[in-house]
Parts: sequence; C-alpha cells; structure tokens
Amino acid sequence: MTTPQVREAADDDLDRVLAVHRQAFGQETEAGLVRDLLADPSAAPRLSLLATDGGRPVGHILFTAVTVAGAHPPVAAAILAPLAVVPGAQGRGIGRRLVEDGLRRLAASGTDLVFVLGDPQYYGRFGFEPASPRGLAAPYPLPEAYAEAWLVRRPGPGAIGTATGRVDCAEMLRRPELWQE
Ligand SMILES: CC(C)(COP(=O)(O)OP(=O)(O)OC[C@H]1O[C@@H](n2cnc3c(N)ncnc32)[C@H](O)[C@@H]1OP(=O)(O)O)[C@@H](O)C(=O)NCCC(=O)NCCS
Repeated sequence: MTTPQVREAADDDLDRVLAVHRQAFGQETEAGLVRDLLADPSAAPRLSLLATDGGRPVGHILFTAVTVAGAHPPVAAAILAPLAVVPGAQGRGIGRRLVEDGLRRLAASGTDLVFVLGDPQYYGRFGFEPASPRGLAAPYPLPEAYAEAWLVRRPGPGAIGTATGRVDCAEMLRRPELWQE
C-alpha cells in the first residue's frame, strides 16, 4: 500500500477534483458546488487540497473565505466545504490528513477561525466545537436537527477568541437550501 500525498490542487486538476466528489457523494451536487466555488471571486482566498495515492486522486478538501459580520477587530475566517474521499480509499486516514493539513496551512497564512457544517462526531475529533453558543451564527437559520452541526475552531493553537456575529459566505454558498436540507 502506498502513502497518500496531499498537495494544493492546480487549475488543471479540476476534472480530478470533481471526479473525487462524484464518487464520494454518488451524485453531482457537491461536484457542482466545488466547480462553482472555484470560479467564485467572493470565495477567495481559497485552499483546495488534493490527496493522491500512487498518482490516483483519492480525496479533496476545499476551504473558502467567509467573513464574520460585525466582528471588531475583524477576523480572517474560512469555511470547510466540502470534504470527500473516494469509497475505495475511505477509512485509511486520508480525510484526517486533508483536514489537518488544511488547518496547518490556514494557521500559517493567518486564518483566525475555520467553520464547518458537518457531523459533530467526525469533526469533533479535529477540535471543532459548536459555534452558535459562542455567538457565531450560521449564514442561514439552521433546522433543529443541524443545530449541533455548525462548528468552529481556531486552525492553530490558542483560544477561539471573543469575536461574535453572523457568518457571511461566498456567493455560491448563499443558497438557503444548502443549509436547510
Ligand atoms: C467523511 C469522509 C470524508 C471521511 O474520510 P476518510 O478518509 O474515510 O476518514 P478517515 O479515514 O480520516 O477517518 C475515518 C474515521 O471517520 C469515521 N467517519 C467517517 N465518516 C463519518 C461520519 N459521517 N460521521 C462520523 N464518523 C465518520 C469512520 O468511522 C472512521 O472512524 P475510526 O477512525 O474510529 O475508525 C469520507 O467517508 C467521505 O468522503 N464520505 C462521503 C462524503 C461525505 O460525507 N463528506 C463529508 C461531508 S462534507
């Protein structure tokens, strides 16, 4: 078994990146979202990481810029969405590598906060914690079932801080159905 490698995805990796999402989610929705976010100026700066195994694309993670409305002083923030590992490569720590590598790179580039709307059990193991109780509201009201899924962490060491406000995301993520279904 080879060791998966993680690198920044280049423009000409687009087809590989989209194929990873199609395989992992078994539908077109997330691949379409990734394509839209990669072309969305309001999503910059972005961090797009591709995992390969023996040259084969096996995983991808995308972080895009968000703002925290009304935070003083302003915070540099990002959202993780989406993350995918192809079915044949799941359970080998590739998702963990992508999340941890992404957090490291975001910390190094000065990001203060990283948000995710995802399974608290999965993301809790990376130190994400509920964001709403800290006064960091999701861009759209979340259904009751997802209340615990809106999560935040500081990518590097240290406390989350005291910024509060509503998160405003890239235009391509400003679709209520992405947050409420
Ligand atoms: C979720 C996903 C990215 C995890 O990738 P992965 O490479 O298999 O993850 P890792 O190998 O790093 O971690 C596997 C661990 O996560 C757990 N896990 C996987 N999916 C999980 C989920 N949805 N909720 C909770 N735990 C989950 C596994 O049980 C395993 O636990 P263990 O370490 O105790 O055995 C991958 O399964 C995937 O792409 N799934 C389909 C798409 C998806 O749901 N993406 C996430 C939402 S954006």
